Amino acid sequence: MPSLNEARERVENLRREIRKHDYRYYVLDSPLITDQEYDSLMRELENFEKLYPELITPDSPTQRIGGAPLDQFRSVKHAAPLFSLANAFEDGELRDFDRRVQQLVGAAVDYVVEPKIDGLTVVLTYENGDFVLGATRGDGITGEDITENLRAVRLLPMKLSIALPRLVVRGEAFMPKKAFARLNERRDLRGEPPFANPRNAAAGSLRQLDPKVTAARTLGVFAYQVLECEGQEIATQREALALLKELGFSVQEKSKHCQDIDEVIAHCSQWTKERHTLNYEIDGLVTKVNPLRLQSVLGSTAKSPRWAIAFKFPAEQVVTQVKEIIVQVGRTGVLTPTAILNPVQVGGVTVSRATLHNEEMIRQKDVRTGDYVVIQRAGDVIPEVVRVLPEQRNGKEEVFQMPGYCPVCGGKVLHLEDEVAARCTGIACPAQLKELVLHFVSRDAMDVEGIGSALAKQLVDSGLVKDSADLFALQKDDLLSLERMGEKSSDNVLKALDRSKERGLAPLLFALGIRHVGTRAAEILAEKFGSLDALAQASPEELTAIQEIGPKIAQSIETFFQQDQTQQLIGKLKEAGVKMLQERTQEEEEDILGGNVFVLTGTLPSITRKEAEDLIKKYGGKISSSVSKKTSYLVAGEEPGQKYEKALELGVPIIDEDTLLKMVPGT
Ligand code: IVH
Repeated sequence: MPSLNEARERVENLRREIRKHDYRYYVLDSPLITDQEYDSLMRELENFEKLYPELITPDSPTQRIGGAPLDQFRSVKHAAPLFSLANAFEDGELRDFDRRVQQLVGAAVDYVVEPKIDGLTVVLTYENGDFVLGATRGDGITGEDITENLRAVRLLPMKLSIALPRLVVRGEAFMPKKAFARLNERRDLRGEPPFANPRNAAAGSLRQLDPKVTAARTLGVFAYQVLECEGQEIATQREALALLKELGFSVQEKSKHCQDIDEVIAHCSQWTKERHTLNYEIDGLVTKVNPLRLQSVLGSTAKSPRWAIAFKFPAEQVVTQVKEIIVQVGRTGVLTPTAILNPVQVGGVTVSRATLHNEEMIRQKDVRTGDYVVIQRAGDVIPEVVRVLPEQRNGKEEVFQMPGYCPVCGGKVLHLEDEVAARCTGIACPAQLKELVLHFVSRDAMDVEGIGSALAKQLVDSGLVKDSADLFALQKDDLLSLERMGEKSSDNVLKALDRSKERGLAPLLFALGIRHVGTRAAEILAEKFGSLDALAQASPEELTAIQEIGPKIAQSIETFFQQDQTQQLIGKLKEAGVKMLQERTQEEEEDILGGNVFVLTGTLPSITRKEAEDLIKKYGGKISSSVSKKTSYLVAGEEPGQKYEKALELGVPIIDEDTLLKMVPGT
């Protein structure tokens, strides 16, 4: 066993190493080691910290996974309003800005130009070198306390290299482009809508009540402004950036010191061409007066400082031709028209297709096969058709018609009244089935490694898999008969399938692909019902009585379980030995109503008021005598009192005795 001193030295080295690799990975996008090597560094650090817990520090990379989920974010009033920036779109506007600055300060000034990161503003407070508070900008006056979530952001220092008495810093949280692409792929697999751009993804990830969700997302933070600083003098923005770097923050390496506005303009025009070379999105450049004393002299207007301006890049648009409009079929049968384009470069990537969303959108924009169209990447990411160039038409263009039958299975296509989307109704549509199988085996579902898009297609096309349960009936010879499947890969797939049977109820529920049931809803349902059979029997009222389960999910669950196909599927899964129960420890069982506040009213049909109260308390629930916003459920019997009206008014779920009894085990 290493001595404490040896361990201390190794721990410090490991932390330094891990931080270096975090920076290479998140900011530079050029990792030096594989994910496995990185994991083994983390594991080694964890082992040392287990051995010598006194070596654990709050800023250790192992301490980043935040605490318990919150009910809501606390609001934080900012010490001074957080302004946003005035925009410039042309060189002339930058010159106007420079003229105003010179007039007000009565002299020529130097500037710092920094990339404008397209993320979410955060305000970070440190006391005696420790990270104590992280807040969003909110409306500029009041933001939200997201401290716990920010702890999960690897690149944010939890402890400063110099223990300044107080430091408040403004920065930008962002999601690197690759992480954004991966996250959207996963969301797509789960049937969740993609984030439109990395900014929305960063904001969505940081505004999660459960810090564990944030921890699972790849986020970085750049620091760019010192709002308050005690214990260190700084005279210029350049010095501020240097100090931030020294303290341990990630700072934009690409900032440039410019002597005059001509240099600023030249720099902006160069970056307009190079904007896509970074691993994170930037939507412009920020020009700031360098001396902080002059920044104070200039002050602010009602909305923005007079000492800074944002130069926004023009949206990149290019013209190309629509070769064809095809229709793609998703897991839930939705038909999405997609334009196949003559490949063009937009914003640093080759674009050869653009989504047309739905039929209505095609009509509105009047996109036809053969048209020349202007395309752009929305939020610089998802390619979309902006408009058609009708003057370039030659009369041979073809108007798009949504097919009446599915292009893959020939099933009838229905246009539901309350939806813009058209859906294939074919119950055995191979396109849907393939997507369903891919969803079934995805990481958050049954987590079967080795089944990707190509294999799923082969399994469906060959007829080996007609529903997800057929996966468990696959034999080695079946797999060997498919293209590109060797001994080893077949064995691995079979082993992974076998292992997946033990995944448990929540992943299984998610895997079944019930519309609107994502991972979170699946967890809640698994916890409440404990078994697939119990959930299958739940009424919509019982379901909507659960906080977080709305009528849309409830309806969709009911419809799902009513279908014969579902019953067959479940039967086959049971036979294959797939686990359908949620295992609970005794402790969890005793706290099954934990955190819920119940109010009782009226006469209950079979148990007394006292018995009901005892039952609720036994399983961790609380009893209250009056209905308020904090009430989780009103249990109503016959002849309920005024509490009933109050619950209706406040939107508190009202349940009957039967539902209460079903919420606890063994009754
Ligand atoms: S300086 C007083 N510098 O862009 C305003 N802002 O409206 C100080 N942003 O919300 C802002 N990168 O969050 C500054 N290097 C940078 C920036 C930056 C991104 C954001 C900022 C603000 C928005 C402009």
